[in-house]
Amino acid sequence: MNVRRVALLPNGQAFALPMPIPPVLQPVPSSSALIDTYRLNVGQATVELLPGLPTKVLTYNGQFVGPTIQATVGRPVRVIATNNFTEPIAVHLHGGHTPSDSDGYPMDVVQPGQSRVYNYPNNQQGTMLWYHDHAMGLEAVHVYSGLHGMYVLRDHSEDSLGLPSGAYDVPIMIRDADLDTDGNLVWQPVNINTILVNGVVQPYFQVAARKYRLRIVNAAVERIFRFDLGGGEFIQIGSDGGLYPAPVSRTELVLGSAERADVVVDFSRYPVGSQVMLSDTTGPALRFDVVRTAPDTSQVPAVLRALPALPPATVTRQISMKFDFDSGMSPPPGTINGAAFDPNVINFQVKRGSTEIWEVTNADPIALNIDHSFHVHMTQFRVLDRQGSPMLPDDDGLKDTINVPPGSTVRIQATFRDYLGKYVFHCHYLEHSVLGMMGQIEVIA
Ligand code: C2O
Ligand code: CU
Ligand code: CU
Repeated sequence: MNVRRVALLPNGQAFALPMPIPPVLQPVPSSSALIDTYRLNVGQATVELLPGLPTKVLTYNGQFVGPTIQATVGRPVRVIATNNFTEPIAVHLHGGHTPSDSDGYPMDVVQPGQSRVYNYPNNQQGTMLWYHDHAMGLEAVHVYSGLHGMYVLRDHSEDSLGLPSGAYDVPIMIRDADLDTDGNLVWQPVNINTILVNGVVQPYFQVAARKYRLRIVNAAVERIFRFDLGGGEFIQIGSDGGLYPAPVSRTELVLGSAERADVVVDFSRYPVGSQVMLSDTTGPALRFDVVRTAPDTSQVPAVLRALPALPPATVTRQISMKFDFDSGMSPPPGTINGAAFDPNVINFQVKRGSTEIWEVTNADPIALNIDHSFHVHMTQFRVLDRQGSPMLPDDDGLKDTINVPPGSTVRIQATFRDYLGKYVFHCHYLEHSVLGMMGQIEVIA
């Protein structure tokens, strides 16, 4: 098989297609005025990822980047997921503060031909979440094959800030893929090089010369993106779990798998006719074409939203992530505190409402240079400090996923409020979680 090993399209094919904006999912007509009900149908579909070539993918509602769910803080969402595929699925709302029976726990799957209901109360700060598959052992290949979509949680208490909104508030999912010359997705998680922006390789996006809010999610299975605008400015206003207290000016955005950045880019700095390239270190990913002027009453205020108070922690725990190279197995099992994930083993019982500090270590030999990331379900956390690695630009604000570079330890602090039950935490390089680099807590009363 002839796998493309370049990030760039051949001459003349790059920047030929517009960046699509995934359609907003419409709620099903329902008898309740208090809740929005949506249907997500999982099944195979054929889409065009490379110009002129059909690619068989796995989708929510037939779309390679699933439809965007627009939710509002305080207004619950119900998702009815139907599995029209041949393998079990589980829908997980990444970053969601979700009851455990709606969290997409890996063993809590929807079998082929079955449906189930997920309830999302939306009692957390506004931010961009995303939904993706989490079925035991299948999450990596399912997400890679296309089971991912965005979930914008709006917060009317933030409306008065005057941030860019409406058509100027744009969700962007960036991931990578390997495609062979026939257009097939190749599942072989090394050197995955073609970057897809809302499902299109190297698209352009026409913008007006004004401010835009761009909500960017890295939906790659195993990848750190480093984006720049050729020296241009991103005004970062938020990260995984909500707004920053104050905007931060950056020229580079670093996003590990599953991380989000909420940024404002002011295209009025560029004359009409300019082309502004969003590039990863491997090459250009998305070209903004500044095509017109437009009125702009939006602003980025100097004060955004205070972070929630950090109550004192009552428990400190250690979590160590590494591969078990001594096992002699190939690939080696992934482990948390020495053991691969076992659904029958609870790593920690956490008292509901308590605040804890977790010291999370990447314990693989530094010489092997293996990155891990760390993600915990149900709560957002704060990064306190790092040892063996400098603080990273994506450590600010409310986080649910962070990079843990080789040989380093990061301390995070989180409060586990509201819900009881089992929740997993894992390396969000999904190839690693599939190999066992996952543990679980049980929140108890
Ligand atoms: Cu993004 Cu456990 O998931
Ligand atoms: Cu998650
Ligand atoms: Cu890992």
